[in-house]
Amino acid sequence: MRYTGNKVIEEDMQGKATMMPANIQINNKKLYIESYGCQMNFSDSEIVASILIDEGYTTVADYKDADVILVNTCSIRENAEQRVFNRLRNYQAVKKTRPGAIIGMLGCMAERLKSQLLERDRLVDLVVGPDAYRSLPELLQNAESGQKAVNVLLSREETYADISPVRLDNNGISAFISIMRGCDNMCSFCVVPFTRGRERSRDPESIVREARELLLKGYKEITLLGQNVDSYKWNITSKGEIIDPKEDVVRFSGLLEKVALVSKELRIRFSTSHPKDMNDDVIETMAKYDNICEYIHLPVQSGNNNILDKMNRGYTREWYFERIDSIRRIMPNCAISTDIIIGFCDETDQDFEETYDLMDRVEFDFAYMFKYSERPKTLAERNFIDNVPEEIKSERLQKIIDLQRAKSLLSNQKMIGKECQVLIEGISKRSDNQLFGRNSQNMVVIINKDDLKKGQYVDVLVDSCSSATLFATVIKKNNN
Ligand code: 5AD
Ligand code: SF4
Repeated sequence: MRYTGNKVIEEDMQGKATMMPANIQINNKKLYIESYGCQMNFSDSEIVASILIDEGYTTVADYKDADVILVNTCSIRENAEQRVFNRLRNYQAVKKTRPGAIIGMLGCMAERLKSQLLERDRLVDLVVGPDAYRSLPELLQNAESGQKAVNVLLSREETYADISPVRLDNNGISAFISIMRGCDNMCSFCVVPFTRGRERSRDPESIVREARELLLKGYKEITLLGQNVDSYKWNITSKGEIIDPKEDVVRFSGLLEKVALVSKELRIRFSTSHPKDMNDDVIETMAKYDNICEYIHLPVQSGNNNILDKMNRGYTREWYFERIDSIRRIMPNCAISTDIIIGFCDETDQDFEETYDLMDRVEFDFAYMFKYSERPKTLAERNFIDNVPEEIKSERLQKIIDLQRAKSLLSNQKMIGKECQVLIEGISKRSDNQLFGRNSQNMVVIINKDDLKKGQYVDVLVDSCSSATLFATVIKKNNN
């Protein structure tokens, strides 16, 4: 109601306060939101839904039933943008049957492609960037009356801290909480600093409050989200005063601790960590609390120092190995995953071999692997040439995919005969008689259904595995 609350006050001043309840009822418009890209985009869509539900919208599962179709877009690689273009073309069919329907583009593609999509291709009626979602109700009204509806301004302050996200597409068990927005790192390949703006952290009190609310609603797992959670830093009081720097500055390890203390029943995950900033405080806090999952996503991007330098990552191969050693020393059972980009500008066979070698040595439990895709405005686009031929990129990508498949299988095989705790998330895709969940290490575990329910924690013994999944027998059901 916060947002609507502000609106009521405005309308009060215009003598229209009584319109508000009626408005909620008559604005029985149907909203469809589709999200692409990272978890942050999915989390943002939940904020958008909250803002519009407060305005009287209801969400629908099929875009063909919607009065307003919003696509929350991703720009991270060119193929992500292509997928969105194709989807927007599909939506044009709705316009033919219902000319009044509004199609809007949210998120990372908004700023760069606003003119093209709104004016040239006329694929959308509304364009709203990641920091401007509070203006959506007003912009939707503009769009409905045929006016221009664009707001792509980035903010240095907006964190949507006061908005309780509406959990979309959820299992009622796990939820995301955004703890910060934007990124100041300027990795040379990355478009995020341009699409999402400067880094800003959210008030820890509002984060803890959101975690408590989720717990009360029956959620069992939360994932704290930020582009670089290790640089989380809060030193502004709720009144906006800067705290004495010697006093209570809350950093990521402190925030993790506050959230872990909400309840032992609430599992905590987070993403994404940055090797240059992930310090031992974070690892030690993870080790201290059983409910902080033993899983770190630590993107290395490349195993070669020249390439890391050109990528502006701020660390070396040796530094990365040292961070891995620290994680394994402090938390021997911690699972580690990574992101890899192959075929970055000037990457030689030898440079690539060093990435392969790093993956071989670290033995990641999981990896997301990408071909370099040049993005407009980035440092790499301005300063380097995207000169690794497509066939070589494909070859290198295939080599690391094959390597990682073997490493993931190895990591799963090491679990056979071991016990672990699983949080049940739902019915398995392969059979209605089986359930799936995850262990602390984020490995997917399949168990027999019996009388178990989603949201329950069970202790299991792992019997067998594939490279993607563990199969296990329940040895203890916990009473929750
Ligand atoms: N090309 C390919 N992959 C990219 N990523 C980010 N930018 C690019 C790009 N231009 C990858 C990185 C990052 C992940 C979210 O996406 O590996 O960690
Ligand atoms: Fe992009 Fe680097 Fe920021 Fe991650 S840390 S969002 S890769 S600029």
